[in-house]
Amino acid sequence: MQTRRDHGKIAFLDIRDRSGIIQAVATGEKLGNLGTEDVVEVEGKVVERGEKNINDKIPTGKIELQVEKLTIISKATELPLPIDSDGHDISEETRLKYRYLDLRRPRMTKNLRIRSKVVNFIRNYLFNEDFVEIETPILTKTTPEGARDFIVPSRLQKGKFYALPQSPQQYKQLLMVSGFERYFQIARCFRDEDPRKDRAYGEFTQLDLEMSFVTQEDILELTEKMFTQLVSELFPEKHITKSPWPRLSHKEVIEKYGTDKPDLRVNKNDPNELAFSWTIDFPLFSEQSEEDFYHGSGSAKYAPSHHMFTSPHPDDLALLDTEPSKVRGLQHDLVLNGFEVGGGSIRIHQSEIQEKIFGLIGFSKEQKKQFSHMLTSFEYGVPPHGGIAPGIDRFLMALLGEPSVREVIAFPATSSGQIAVMDAPSKVDPKQLKELGISLK
Ligand code: AMO
Repeated sequence: MQTRRDHGKIAFLDIRDRSGIIQAVATGEKLGNLGTEDVVEVEGKVVERGEKNINDKIPTGKIELQVEKLTIISKATELPLPIDSDGHDISEETRLKYRYLDLRRPRMTKNLRIRSKVVNFIRNYLFNEDFVEIETPILTKTTPEGARDFIVPSRLQKGKFYALPQSPQQYKQLLMVSGFERYFQIARCFRDEDPRKDRAYGEFTQLDLEMSFVTQEDILELTEKMFTQLVSELFPEKHITKSPWPRLSHKEVIEKYGTDKPDLRVNKNDPNELAFSWTIDFPLFSEQSEEDFYHGSGSAKYAPSHHMFTSPHPDDLALLDTEPSKVRGLQHDLVLNGFEVGGGSIRIHQSEIQEKIFGLIGFSKEQKKQFSHMLTSFEYGVPPHGGIAPGIDRFLMALLGEPSVREVIAFPATSSGQIAVMDAPSKVDPKQLKELGISLK
């Protein structure tokens, strides 16, 4: 029961369910102590409202429900936050602590419904393109994308730890060795890095996909077709600034726009304008100072601009030995309205090149061993492959013009890394620690 307006002997109610709201009319005595947000069961007659009382602001504005019987199933006490506004002005702490109420807010309900539709569209699209959806492990080993790992202690092998995947990168490449040729997954990724408005803390979701026997062109084309169709089917009110999407080299975007994710909208105030573009021809490496953190190898001069499995441009292979900083990578970033909403590349499928990259990024023997399964797998016949991973949260944020990725995630972490509804993380029982062979300092 969303609102109750008493008018003398009768009262007007807005009754809400998943399909929307309907006005109900009842005499006072049928309502008892009915209050806002109570859960009710209503029986009655649906009647026309009559010309004068039509409300053309709501789809059910021509009808109303004459209440014959109303039962209060569950009473609601006063809510700790208002839910009839867009919520942007309420503190995030309160919104996230009572997220289950915050999600009653029409804007949030709408965002999550759109998210579900977008994912459903992507699934269907890729099934029709002969992709296979495959789940990969969450309890795994480091899959570095440049952030810190989350680690999970093992009970069965004391003193050892799983790492949560920063992306399914290595698994999807191994699936290409298995011969699936076309894989995708709506994949949860875990990265322990400081949150920003376009970056969720802890976990986020990617549409992760990989293909064998493809060129960079094939990956760009598939992605472009899929998102173009998605926009025209699900968001007919929106328009794409320029098709085909502009492709700009890294050098060009930096020179022209001073960023590798330019906002190419013609009218930045138009909420329905979508400017997609590709940034390509990135340098394979970024040069880093000694303090820079990259997977514990802070002393190496070079770090991968994308990740260490990205293939060097075939024309630049010789430069790997002479001028690594001049080598271009077969990397592609998908940009939407000034946000990097996806990244991918053609991968290295030759062990000797992969070894060379490990060397250039300063991997120790021990670190190389962490990835020996990749090199081993390549010994059994590996199709050339490549892919991309658009971020679902960030894509939706940019698409809907929301100020933060947290507006399109049901239960996001706060900026201090808490899942406020559950009050996670939390302390654990000393018995649990003992079982894991862990003692706290
Ligand atoms: P990358 O690290 O560029 O590539 O990530 C791909 C996309 O994932 C999204 N993303 C995030 N979204 C929300 N919160 C975050 N913390 C966050 N981090 C990343 C972005 C980004 O463009 N394995 C490669 C992909 C590949 O090579 O195929 C990868 O993960 O939208």
